[in-house]
Amino acid sequence: MARSPTAGLIQLSSCSRMLYSFFHSIVISKYVMGFLPSMQRSGPSGYGASTTAEQVTVGFDLSARTYLVTGCNSGLGKETVRVLALRGARVLALARTLEKAKQVSERMPGNVVPICCELSEPRSIRAAIQEVKRLNVDLDAVIANAGIMALPTLEQKNGYELQFFVNHVGHFLLVTGLLEQLAADGRVVMLASAAHEMTYREGVQFDNLSGEKGYSPWKAYGQSKLCNLLFARHLATCLPVAGQSANAVHPGVIATSLMRNMNPLITVASRLVSPIFMKTVAQGAATQVFVASHPSLAGVNEKYFSDCNEKKSSRYGRDSALAATLWEKTHGIIEAFG
Ligand SMILES: NC(=O)c1ccc[n+]([C@@H]2O[C@H](COP(=O)([O-])OP(=O)(O)OC[C@H]3O[C@@H](n4cnc5c(N)ncnc54)[C@H](OP(=O)(O)O)[C@@H]3O)[C@@H](O)[C@H]2O)c1
Repeated sequence: MARSPTAGLIQLSSCSRMLYSFFHSIVISKYVMGFLPSMQRSGPSGYGASTTAEQVTVGFDLSARTYLVTGCNSGLGKETVRVLALRGARVLALARTLEKAKQVSERMPGNVVPICCELSEPRSIRAAIQEVKRLNVDLDAVIANAGIMALPTLEQKNGYELQFFVNHVGHFLLVTGLLEQLAADGRVVMLASAAHEMTYREGVQFDNLSGEKGYSPWKAYGQSKLCNLLFARHLATCLPVAGQSANAVHPGVIATSLMRNMNPLITVASRLVSPIFMKTVAQGAATQVFVASHPSLAGVNEKYFSDCNEKKSSRYGRDSALAATLWEKTHGIIEAFG
């Protein structure tokens, strides 16, 4: 019996509905549920997206330990300082001005030492390094947390695109300047981001570090976060003491002042949905606190973490040759500042 054209159309439309709902459920589960921290399971570490910085340090006595945190006056840095100090650690808290660092140290529990460090100013960074050396302490971890994101138009400092300079070059100068202070089992924790995957097509545009040949706010941010990851990767291979380590982390997506440069409508919308789709600041600080302080990670080196568990970074993020080239190039940049 011949089938009517209408029956064929009905079959086609129910088939496309099925296909639609199949792909829809995949997209929903990957991109929406995946962002719901409370619905994610813990990983092999026993922690997950909803774990807070306090929870990863429950029962820790860090009273013999010293940590250095950049960007201490806001968001994830402030929470990191608070939790480490709460567990008894001495925390060297770095902010762009001494006043900002003091405002934090005065309100925190325990021993928080305020230090000025403006990461776009090599002179300020060098002064901060001297200040830390003067304190004559071994650093159990350096947490390179400060950062800026997606500046709407090209801004430069010292001839370089500002996100590249602040997020990467400034931290390169600070961390390499403090290696002599790093404890024998000391850890370097670089705040990268999943946004490292949004970098320029070439990974790092070595011929356009000033941004003058073309600038994209998000790609430039992605490039700077890829640089954070690659810096950790290369540093991990040349740390002076065998027990030291360098790792990079993605903290998750958290509504902090980092969004200050985004379209105001997007910022408002983000803040509205953040209780459901984003991590809280307490959850956002967990991965860096975990990687900096958890005993289970002793000797773990050259890795990338997200949600307090090891993750695979992008192809560029795992490119050791690119990491070595970036290291050499950045070394040249900081040497030029004398
Ligand atoms: N929030 C997220 O969703 C997210 C996602 C992935 C990665 N991250 C990374 O996490 C880190 C912390 O971000 P956050 O969310 O906590 O942002 P935040 O609240 O904006 O904190 C950023 C910190 O960096 C400091 N900073 C900015 N420019 C500086 C400079 N030139 N010199 C020294 N310090 C400077 C800021 O100081 P001022 O307040 O004085 O400007 C502030 O203390 C960043 O590296 C960011 O890339 C965040």
